[in-house]
Amino acid sequence: MDLSLNIADGLMLNNPVMNASGTFAYGREFSEIFDLSIMGALIPKALSLGPRQGNPAPRIVEAPCGLINSIGLENIGVDAFLKRELPFLKGFKVPIIANFFGESFEEYIECASRLTVDGINALEMNVSCPNVKSGGLEFGRDKKVLSDLVRMVKDKTTKPIIVKLPPIGGDIVELALAAQKAGADALTCANTFPAMAIDEETWKPTLANYVGGLSGPAIKPIALRFVWDIHTKVDIPIIASGGISSYRDVIQFLLAGASAVQVGSMSLRDPLCFKEIIEGLRAYMALHHIESINDIVGKLRS
Ligand code: FUM
Repeated sequence: MDLSLNIADGLMLNNPVMNASGTFAYGREFSEIFDLSIMGALIPKALSLGPRQGNPAPRIVEAPCGLINSIGLENIGVDAFLKRELPFLKGFKVPIIANFFGESFEEYIECASRLTVDGINALEMNVSCPNVKSGGLEFGRDKKVLSDLVRMVKDKTTKPIIVKLPPIGGDIVELALAAQKAGADALTCANTFPAMAIDEETWKPTLANYVGGLSGPAIKPIALRFVWDIHTKVDIPIIASGGISSYRDVIQFLLAGASAVQVGSMSLRDPLCFKEIIEGLRAYMALHHIESINDIVGKLRS
């Protein structure tokens, strides 16, 4: 049985299961619980040029079948990541995908260029965070802005570019097509949905930032539909993200056209879920006599 797949030049995965950026910090805590070398790829928290403190607390709250976060892109910055965290992550011999963002085209370009180093296999361009006033989503909801940005970043890096799309704000299929045309090597579909929670006793918003992004099983059926929609129009690989919690979810997303998946919220509930999901995939393939994981991708029957 072969679970390996190729997303782009230089981005060959041993299996299709990676973490989602933002629910994994830089991997250190998870590495105390399981061996990170089982992963298809590792994606640390989104990186900006300089360190950021993020939004004030409370910045995470449970929702029915999911959670709402408003972290505000807290991170240590590209240079500290390269110096302190990349050497640690490289030890696991798993492809590393650096998620990055900026508040201007220039910052995106500079981040991408500083992250173009040995040990980083691909860059995931975050144009979809719903929790910050500038940066993130403002670059991902307009086709023209998105394609200009992808083109400029592609020009400054030799690493494959994966564009992490926003689920709302623009037509996701149009955005996917624009990103592909501008040279994106793959797409992540999709980031969290803008959401809110209110405390009926205090009459106040639960999150200090008022609003956040909804993730978890609540959004899975919508993410599945997006993946299928995009797969019917776009040729580059799709990495699915949105409430994936079990090997069954992975199979469903692969059938809809995803080549790989990211697991986020579920790993906060059960950090060992990655192992279970990968083992579940193996057992499913054995049971159904499937030799290669690629034989499932896009094979939805009518
Ligand atoms: O608020 C946050 O840090 C979330 C980031 C994202 O959704 O990309």
